[in-house]
Amino acid sequence: PTGLVSDLRGRPLRDLRISVTDRCNFRCTYCMPKEVFGKDYQYLPHGDLLSFEEITRLARLFMAHGVHKIRLTGGEPLLRKDLHLLIEQLAALRTIEGKAPDLTLTTNGSLLARKARQLKDAGLSRVTVSLDSLDDATFRAMNDVDFPVAKVLDGIATAQAVGLEHIKVNMVVKRGTNDHDILAMARHFRGSGVTLRFIEFMDVGATNGWRMDAVVPSDEVIARLRAELALVPLEPTAIGETAQRWGYAGADGRHDPQLGEVGVISSVTRAFCADCNRARLSTEGRMYLCLFATQGWDLRRLLRSGAGDLEIATAIADIWRGRNDRYSELRAQMPPDTGSGGRRIEMSYIGG
Ligand code: GTP
Ligand code: 5AD
Ligand code: SF4
Ligand code: SF4
Repeated sequence: PTGLVSDLRGRPLRDLRISVTDRCNFRCTYCMPKEVFGKDYQYLPHGDLLSFEEITRLARLFMAHGVHKIRLTGGEPLLRKDLHLLIEQLAALRTIEGKAPDLTLTTNGSLLARKARQLKDAGLSRVTVSLDSLDDATFRAMNDVDFPVAKVLDGIATAQAVGLEHIKVNMVVKRGTNDHDILAMARHFRGSGVTLRFIEFMDVGATNGWRMDAVVPSDEVIARLRAELALVPLEPTAIGETAQRWGYAGADGRHDPQLGEVGVISSVTRAFCADCNRARLSTEGRMYLCLFATQGWDLRRLLRSGAGDLEIATAIADIWRGRNDRYSELRAQMPPDTGSGGRRIEMSYIGG
């Protein structure tokens, strides 16, 4: 039952994104708006969460089918108690080729200065930090908990200092909210060793009040950057990569690696479903085949019913083989969030 597996569209299973908590200490307006995620919001009870042993077991079985990259998400993954212990367990797993997984996480950076060393020592390869603005007032308003930019920058600096590699910063761009800060963000991270990526505001979940006119298309982002900074297109580093890459050019007009690169993630204007090789595992152990899925497969029930590795590995492969999802490609033809199967899953639950 192990070995490589492809879905109905011929896409292999390569990435696993694991949500380790549905909680977050931020209330980003595009992700966990306060009106919905207020004091009375019911998060998952502790017993519903997969344990570290359960997560590691599933990760091992996913890796037996070709997964080589594992990303921990949330919610805010660093809120999960003793996360470094999970990282230790995951770092010890091996891909089909016998290599350690590419193990990373996406964090809001608020706890990074405190935890970066411990995470690195546990075996984390790299880290991606969400930061939507350098302008303090704008950032405080977007995270909606009055969290200052300086502390996130501190977290990024600490992550660099402890030797986490290929650090990336994700900026979700919303027109009229933080798009005035595109150029300042690029200038700040140019030559810093950190790769900045601009993300188109997506209609993920059902509560973030998405509107097309708040999306700044990536072509526009790149045009705004190129008006001030010399950029050259770069080849993708991997099949199914989310971001299109652009390198900063030096005086000779060629990419200068010292200056680094920027990326744009265009899930609205240029869907990248054709090569999408990402499976998602929710906090409570449901397997999802798409960020925009309306239903998942309950692997926790299988785990807790005493199923053996063979049975679980077979189930994972069968679910992947039946996959036909390509929501972003179909978005144009679909009305927002009607989805015959019901309400779309929130990003904080399924994991970004
Ligand atoms: P790298 O391996 O570091 O390039 O990471 P990544 O880009 O795969 O992961 P990251 O968490 O940094 O993702 C950046 C953003 O891309 C996410 O926050 C989402 O907004 C978007 N994204 C990631 N995966 C998908 C996907 O499968 N579909 C869609 N529509 N968007 C995605
Ligand atoms: N559109 C685009 N990106 C989003 N993220 C969260 N919600 C959205 C959305 N609606 C991003 C976060 C973070 C990653 C996990 O997902 O900013 O970088
Ligand atoms: Fe939290 Fe990240 Fe969602 Fe913001 S985008 S609310 S930091 S999970
Ligand atoms: Fe993959 Fe779904 Fe995103 Fe398309 S919309 S890239 S299929 S997760």
